[in-house]
Amino acid sequence: MTIGQIAGDQTYSKRCHVFLEQTLGVPKAMVTSSCTHALEMCALLLDIQPGDEVIVPSFTFVSTANAFVLRGAKIIFADIRPDTLNLDERQLESLITPRTKVIVPVHYAGVGCEMDVIGKIAVRHGLSVVEDNAHGLFGKFRGRWLGTFGCVAGQSFHETKNITCGEGGALLINDNNLIQRAEIIREKGTNRSRFFRGEVDKYSWTDIGSSYVMSDVLAAFLYAQLEVWQNIQAMRQHIWQYYDQQLRDWAQEHGIGCPVVPAHCEQSYHMYYLIMPSLEKRQALISFLKDRGILSVFHYVPLHLSPMGQRMGERKGNCPVSEEKSERLLRLPFYNNLSREDQDRVITAIREFYV
Ligand SMILES: Cc1ncc(COP(=O)(O)O)c(C=O)c1O
Repeated sequence: MTIGQIAGDQTYSKRCHVFLEQTLGVPKAMVTSSCTHALEMCALLLDIQPGDEVIVPSFTFVSTANAFVLRGAKIIFADIRPDTLNLDERQLESLITPRTKVIVPVHYAGVGCEMDVIGKIAVRHGLSVVEDNAHGLFGKFRGRWLGTFGCVAGQSFHETKNITCGEGGALLINDNNLIQRAEIIREKGTNRSRFFRGEVDKYSWTDIGSSYVMSDVLAAFLYAQLEVWQNIQAMRQHIWQYYDQQLRDWAQEHGIGCPVVPAHCEQSYHMYYLIMPSLEKRQALISFLKDRGILSVFHYVPLHLSPMGQRMGERKGNCPVSEEKSERLLRLPFYNNLSREDQDRVITAIREFYV
C-alpha cells in the first residue's frame, strides 16, 4: 500500500486554500497547524520588534497576546464592550502611543467587532489590524466576511470550533504585499512553495520562519466539512436560535444576560452563553448542571489578571468590564450534532435552577 502525499500543501490543503479564497474573497489563504501559529505568522510578517506595543482585548485566549509577546512586544490590554464582549473601540484611541504597531480585534463568539471605527482609527494612526477570527468563520460585519478587514487574520479549526480538524487553523492575507513572505515564513524560512510551483530549480533558506503547514491528512478531514459548510452553519443556527427562544425571556426575568448580536452583525453561531447575576450564581449553576450530567463552562480568565499579566504589572481594576463579565459568563453545551432532546434537557435543567 502506498500512503501517498500527506505532508503539507498537497491536494486537500490546496482545495482548502481555494475554497477559503473563493468563498471569502481573500487574495490568499493558507491552512496552518493552528490559529495560534497563524497569529505567530502575523507577528513575524508585521516585523514586530521588542518594545513595539500591540493592543489586545484582555478578554481573549492566550494566543492572541502570546503570538506578539514571542516577538518581544509589549501587550496593551483593552477592555471590552459590555454588550458584545468585543474590544471596546471607544477606548481604543486612549491606548495608542508612538510605539503602538498593531490592534488585534477578537470577534468574540463570532460576532463582529466594530470594524468600521477600528479601521478608521488604525488608518489615522498608521497601525496594522490583525483579526483574531478564531470564532468567526462565516460571520459578517455590515455584510462583509469577518477575516477580510485586517491586513491578515487568523482562523481556528481546533476541535471546539464549528468546523474542525482537531488541531488546525488558517492565515487569511488581505494585503498582497505580505503573501510571498508568508509562504516563506510558513515553510521554515525557505522558498519551497516556489520550488513546488516550478518557479525555482531548488529551494533554500531565505528568511526566518518555522513549520506552520498543516498535514494533508488533516486538510482532507477539514475539506470534507468545508464542502458542506452551509449545512453545518444551518445546524448551528437552529441550535443557537432554540436556546435563545427558550431562554431569553426567562433570563431577562431573572436578571440574567444573553448574547447581544447587533443588527449589522451576522454571527457565526459559535456559542451560546448566559451572563449570570454574580460569580456565586454562575458557579452554583455550573455545579447544578454538573449534577445532572451537563457540562457547562466559564470562558476566559482575563489575560491581564493571569500570572503572566500580573508579571507585566497589570492588576485588578484595569479592565473592569472584562473582569466582571468573565466572572459571570457561562457557556452552554453547543456542538454541531447536539440533538433537540439533549438541548431540551439542558434548557429544562437551567429553568429549574433557582436564581
Ligand atoms: C480567540 C481565540 N484566538 C486564538 C485561539 C487559538 O486557536 P488554536 O487552538 O487553533 O491555536 C483560540 C482558541 O480557542 C481563541 O479562542
